[in-house]
Amino acid sequence: MKAALIGCGAIASRWVRSLLADGRIEIAALVDPDQQSAGVLSDRYELSPAFATTLDEALALTPVDIVVNLTPPDHHYRVSREALAHGLHVLTEKPLALNLPDALDLVHLARERGLLLAVMQNRGTDPGFLAFRDTVRVGGRPPFVVAADSLVTLPGPGFRSSQHLPVTTDLAVHAFDQVRALITAPPTEVTCSETPTGFLAPHSSIATITVRFADGSLFTYRGGYIVDPLLRTDANGDWRVEAHGFAARWAPDPAIRHKTAEAGPPAYQRCITAMVDALHQPGTAPVPAVGNLGSVALLDAALQSATIRRPVPVPEVPDVRP
Ligand SMILES: NC(=O)c1ccc[n+]([C@@H]2O[C@H](COP(=O)([O-])OP(=O)(O)OC[C@H]3O[C@@H](n4cnc5c(N)ncnc54)[C@H](O)[C@@H]3O)[C@@H](O)[C@H]2O)c1
Repeated sequence: MKAALIGCGAIASRWVRSLLADGRIEIAALVDPDQQSAGVLSDRYELSPAFATTLDEALALTPVDIVVNLTPPDHHYRVSREALAHGLHVLTEKPLALNLPDALDLVHLARERGLLLAVMQNRGTDPGFLAFRDTVRVGGRPPFVVAADSLVTLPGPGFRSSQHLPVTTDLAVHAFDQVRALITAPPTEVTCSETPTGFLAPHSSIATITVRFADGSLFTYRGGYIVDPLLRTDANGDWRVEAHGFAARWAPDPAIRHKTAEAGPPAYQRCITAMVDALHQPGTAPVPAVGNLGSVALLDAALQSATIRRPVPVPEVPDVRP
């Protein structure tokens, strides 16, 4: 099968490395209005793709079966929709979309066309985080108080300097995947605020988010792009959980993760392998993105709350089982 990578920025290297290691998908086209980024990516990995600035241009140059959507979050819905409408499978970076109606539209279109629609969820499926989730599930009984900090530094901020509410759309969405693994009760209400801290760096911004759950559980999140590496948390975050008679913490050291052979492939590579596996299943392609709709519902409420500066009810995810 042949793929067009749309968006050739920082995260594209990770995808190219994983797809080359997997070997089942050929990178047939690199699409980016910034042709220099596409050229640098191609040279670094000795690819021989078609170069294009739009999907239509790429399709005129070479046949493609799959679109890998690596554009900034506010382009995700449009790019994925266009690909599905062309009859192409879609593997997309998170978030699936910025609001629940758009995410549902993608899911319905993928189902209608029999196409794969899968979204990256590398933090919520990180093996270290899943072990922590198991500790919580075995040892604790809800309701829980969950607190997470995720303060990251970036070698290149890319789109984040110009994205509206960048921490909420780019970073907090990981925490939504993670907290849904810890607290299984439905989320009811989100309060979110995000403040640019441009006095540190143009992309710097801090978000605080509170989520209430139907069983009384509470999640508080503080995330941001900071500058000094000494202050950063691991990109998976620093997690604390307390329940009656139970407490647990997971705070991976950002300096040592994935450095040992026993750690196995990083979570993003496992996710990409699972997506490629799904593409090769016989029969109609599945739509694993359905499982991520709960995270999009939280993101939807968080973005609304940050805009109107009030708590917002979490939209209910309809049952979209086939
Ligand atoms: N899963 C993870 O751990 C992880 C980590 C980092 C980034 N991401 C996600 O990956 C995506 C890209 O992030 P990045 O860090 O590579 O950003 P980036 O800013 O470095 O790169 C984005 C690229 O997309 C290109 N682009 C913009 N609009 C486009 C369009 N309409 N068509 C084609 N190309 C377009 C830009 O020119 C740029 O080269 C984001 O959704 C981000 O949230 C995920």
